[in-house]
Amino acid sequence: MDKPVFLSVLAVLLASVNGQVVFPRQCPNHSFQTPFIPIQYSGRWYEISRYDTETQTEGDCTVSMYTMTSAIAFSVQYNMLVGPQPIQINGQSVVSFPDENPLRGMLSLSFGGPPTTSNYWILETDFVNFSVVWFCQNLNATHSSETAWVLSRQRTIPPAIQPIVDGVVNQHLVPALLRPTNQEVARCGN
Ligand SMILES: *[C@@H]1O[C@H](CO)[C@@H](O)[C@H](O)[C@H]1NC(C)=O
Ligand SMILES: *[C@@H]1O[C@H](CO)[C@@H](O)[C@H](O)[C@H]1NC(C)=O
Ligand SMILES: *[C@@H]1O[C@H](CO)[C@@H](O)[C@H](O)[C@H]1NC(C)=O
Repeated sequence: MDKPVFLSVLAVLLASVNGQVVFPRQCPNHSFQTPFIPIQYSGRWYEISRYDTETQTEGDCTVSMYTMTSAIAFSVQYNMLVGPQPIQINGQSVVSFPDENPLRGMLSLSFGGPPTTSNYWILETDFVNFSVVWFCQNLNATHSSETAWVLSRQRTIPPAIQPIVDGVVNQHLVPALLRPTNQEVARCGN
């Protein structure tokens, strides 16, 4: 009898975490963060902005915590507020192509069961300040569905880092579609 509640919470989370935008094109080819150094990616990431659509449930204060569980895998904990409701959900993430040398920043993230789908592609990160993440799936021959997130180690992007992030975003994403995530202390607490 708990199942429907769990599923509805999961649905809210996935809608919020995986805000998807449909584009009238096939997935563009981008290059990804290389080398990807898992241990350096571990720790806390604040969501600064994400692709979103007007109709989706808004998650505020979204923070993900990456904790290494092996040389190439993480446990991932998301925390966010949806309305007044704090939501926490646990997932797993693993390097999608562990035999590559150097590793590329392509991860497989799952909130239920072991990760199987490569769905978290780090376009660029410096590991210590920012990460720009993207995922794209072709829907058919003419349309694709994309998600994107701009993440920071802090609640904001440091001013000195903003031009770097803008460069990555302008090169690979549609800036106007990135909706800022509310990370104000007044809403999120400390
Ligand atoms: C991306 O690259 C693949 C493999 O090289 C190619 O088949 C595909 O057409 C490219 N897609 C676009 C949108 O350029
Ligand atoms: C980027 O992060 C590093 C490590 O925390 C820090 O030393 C550096 O000051 C940050 N850069 C800026 C511009 O804030
Ligand atoms: C491809 O997918 C888009 C988005 O779902 C849809 O609007 C479009 O009609 C589809 N095209 C074909 C040929 O099925």
